[in-house]
Amino acid sequence: MKKIRCNHLIKMKQQHEKMVMLTCYDASFAKLLNENGIEIILIGDSLGNVIQGFSSTVPVTINDMVYHVNCVARGNQHALLIADMPFMTYATPESAFKHAMPLMQAGAEMVKMEGGAFLAPTIQQLTHYGIPVCAHLGLTPQSVNVLGGYHVQGKDELQQLQLIEDAKALENAGAKLLVLECVPAELASKITAQLTIPVIGIGAGNQTDGQVLVLHDMLGISSRQFSFSKNFLAENSSIADAISAYVREVKNGQFPATHHGF
Ligand code: KIV
Repeated sequence: MKKIRCNHLIKMKQQHEKMVMLTCYDASFAKLLNENGIEIILIGDSLGNVIQGFSSTVPVTINDMVYHVNCVARGNQHALLIADMPFMTYATPESAFKHAMPLMQAGAEMVKMEGGAFLAPTIQQLTHYGIPVCAHLGLTPQSVNVLGGYHVQGKDELQQLQLIEDAKALENAGAKLLVLECVPAELASKITAQLTIPVIGIGAGNQTDGQVLVLHDMLGISSRQFSFSKNFLAENSSIADAISAYVREVKNGQFPATHHGF
């Protein structure tokens, strides 16, 4: 398998080849993900939930992220590595520079940040200085205290128009990738069709350019069970087989099924 870079993802979108992304937090799993066809690894701040045992991603620090990016980078060979910028580390462009740098130096090849058009100047400047950005819209877990819980976003027309506008503004600012979390499948499909950058969905139906899941959720070892996720270990006899079943089912359009969406 060739090393995946962001220009490959654009080509995959143009060729209608689904992209498969999974979260990962350590070197052993990174090796396993590489061996079983995962193209994009997200060192997600979901590590606050599944590794650290917090009830949200808010307590995760930049030092936590740098530690896990270092671990994953040591086990990675060819997947594109994306690291989450933790809560409040990108509140200003200056703060984003300061915190993106150690993530990139630890081995990340792109950073991810949650939010809409207000992030455009930050994305423009990071890109200008050589730091590619993955945007994240819809349910943005770092804003759980503003959103009032973990709910599906973009249910009414006004919210839908806002999300479409935000997605376009983020693309125009230079974002290389967009993660869309927990939005109606029809809206995700519309946004995917209107953007030239790849859109990766989680709880966003199966018309996006690719899918992402949280590793611990798809292995059934999280304390949480989400209707949009699937326990791939339940029907496979090893972790390696569960990961390659996930890759296969995303590639052939079997996952997510209609009942995994909203
Ligand atoms: O932190 C994370 O794992 C994420 C995914 C849910 C997309 O942002």
